[in-house]
Amino acid sequence: MEAVKIKENIYWVGAIDYDVRIFHGYETPQGTTYNAYLILDEQVTLIDTVKAPFTNEMIKRIESVIPLDKIDNLISNHVEPDHSGALSELALRCLNAKIYTSPNGQKGLKAYYRALQGRPMEVVKTGDSISTGSYSLQFVLMPMVHWPDSMATYLVEEKVLFSNDAFGQHLACPERYDDEIGLERLLERAGDYYANIVLPFGIQVNKLIGDISGLTFEMICPSHGVILRQYIAEVAEKYAFWAGDGVQEDKAVIAYDTMWGATRLMAEKIAAELKEEGIKAELLNLGRMHVSEAMKHTLEAKYIFIGSSTLNRGVMHTVAAFLSYLKGLNPKKRIGMAFGAYGWSGESVGIIEEALTSMGYEMRPARKAQWWVEEE
Ligand code: FEO
Repeated sequence: MEAVKIKENIYWVGAIDYDVRIFHGYETPQGTTYNAYLILDEQVTLIDTVKAPFTNEMIKRIESVIPLDKIDNLISNHVEPDHSGALSELALRCLNAKIYTSPNGQKGLKAYYRALQGRPMEVVKTGDSISTGSYSLQFVLMPMVHWPDSMATYLVEEKVLFSNDAFGQHLACPERYDDEIGLERLLERAGDYYANIVLPFGIQVNKLIGDISGLTFEMICPSHGVILRQYIAEVAEKYAFWAGDGVQEDKAVIAYDTMWGATRLMAEKIAAELKEEGIKAELLNLGRMHVSEAMKHTLEAKYIFIGSSTLNRGVMHTVAAFLSYLKGLNPKKRIGMAFGAYGWSGESVGIIEEALTSMGYEMRPARKAQWWVEEE
């Protein structure tokens, strides 16, 4: 378990989780990484840690560079346990190390970890910085990207931003850099991540982009996935687009589930009609995919049409799950439509219409079919 030198005096010492498939409800079909970074200077600094089961792996990587007790500063950019899971162990083994975190970070770390309850912490805010000798580390609070405690750390002299969840991707792979996986795969993974993790926080992402706009970057080192060094501008541009509720004007998703096929036929018919309008539709069978996969496809869709057969006077449970997930992630300024087939009562369409209307969507007229016959 060797550290990976990513720049003079900077090492990746994280862990690659090839096996994780569910990440607090979000499907991670390609696994993920928990990235931690070690900076050597007169004072040695570790930025973030890893999920608890990977503690020993991270420690071995650190010890391939320096003895563990040489760490002077532990910077916790984010309390969520995928990044702080090894912090209490490290704090116990590096008793003289100072812990730096945001105001909400201090509250969260003490709440999560008994071992940290009595440990003094240095609380920092945007504009604060510390010197580690020849390097300066500046802090930028970025609340809600992805939790209230989240912050980024900027290494001024090397022009490296340790951005924690921002600009991350859930991707386990041997490669550590964006140019090694290529732009297409990078944006696909970054989009999946944004759609399922960051989407509700567009205002906060815009603020972060503003806060870091005066900085220059040679690398952006997120806490998940590969390090950005070649495609920084492309990913930043995409973040600005998504945070501004950017969509493809000619893209629709038609997400549905169907009992005996009538709702699916409606979905196909609607897709054909959209094609006539010059709108490309993707059909998402919610009975055949996880909600987070469906959400990835929905990220840039101007049109979100949702269909369900009526089942037990409601919608199918897969559609209910997607509606709940969609509402939580809250993509804005879309055009919606409800549709569905039924046998005798037909409540599903009204339920979907109410859900999409409550999200502020401009609605196209709902469509219902009894058995196989669409109502006029
Ligand atoms: Fe990767 Fe919000 O934790």
